[in-house]
Amino acid sequence: MLVKDIVFSAMQPSNNLTIGNYIGAIKQWVNIQNTYKCIYCIADLHAITNNNFNNLKTLSLNTLALYLACGIDPDINIICLQSKIVEHSQLHWILSCYVNWNKLRHMTQFKNRYMKYSHLSNKITVGLFTYPILMTSDILLYQTKYVPVGYDQKQHLEFSREIAKNFNKKYGNIFTIPKPIIAKISKITSLLNPKKKMSKSDINNNNYISLLDKPELVTKKINNAITDSDNPPIIKYDLKNKPGISNLLNILSVLTNISITNLEKDLNNTNYRQLKRIVANEINNILFKIQKKYFSIRNKEKYLNSILISGNRKAKIIAKNTLSKVYKVVSIK
Ligand code: TRP
Repeated sequence: MLVKDIVFSAMQPSNNLTIGNYIGAIKQWVNIQNTYKCIYCIADLHAITNNNFNNLKTLSLNTLALYLACGIDPDINIICLQSKIVEHSQLHWILSCYVNWNKLRHMTQFKNRYMKYSHLSNKITVGLFTYPILMTSDILLYQTKYVPVGYDQKQHLEFSREIAKNFNKKYGNIFTIPKPIIAKISKITSLLNPKKKMSKSDINNNNYISLLDKPELVTKKINNAITDSDNPPIIKYDLKNKPGISNLLNILSVLTNISITNLEKDLNNTNYRQLKRIVANEINNILFKIQKKYFSIRNKEKYLNSILISGNRKAKIIAKNTLSKVYKVVSIK
């Protein structure tokens, strides 16, 4: 039998996975779960780089329940919790000895956070700085061939590829070189500021739609989404001049599987209010299914924990194998 290629991806635990996370990542994870050997991780170690959560265990279980509610099948995928597989941290240290610190200074995500917190220099931790190395460790530990991620993680993937290539050049074929898989439509933007990414950590929750938002709230948020004042209203995909309308079209296209071009034709005589009603309905249809499943499993903690225990065990076997090769070549084994 052919051995399946390995797919790895992860998300930070959070209460507020958004429709953007669903469209940009989780929906893809579900689409490819029968084709590859997939490892879907909950990145709790990454979550402590920028927040002071004191309930990460709860948030991790929420996230796991959301993965399942969105259609990730625990019987065919490995679902694991990053902090429980110590090899992630161990490889992180080794790799950090092979990365020039200047490289990290230029990572966009770091630069953005750095600017955001520049008035609070005590918020800028070494963990935030070395975040991409931990992410690289996550990926390389599993000999990952493909990494489905949102467009915003593309630079981190490039970084991982470079580390893997350099390490292999020095020591032989230790790591598989990972490739990103980025969905055609993966950039869902903020509802009130459609030039910015929709982010679950946005302080204004009117900017995003959480997968657990109630239907009335979804309708309200979509109704308030920024469009434009073109008169007559034109439903046309134009990221530069009509970012709000384009965002709504992106959401609609992914949720209905209808191409943007066909949507533009179908919605030719539609005004913005009607477009918003259609979008809100589609979102509410999908959220209804997700929430129904979510609330039916979220309080079954024994079941949820058993999925993690089994996933962690399987993940650890692969991770250990890679780490042991690395230890050998850096001569500490
Ligand atoms: N940094 C990713 C994010 O915030 C989450 C993540 C952690 C990840 N480790 C990863 C994604 C490995 C892909 C592969 O979205």
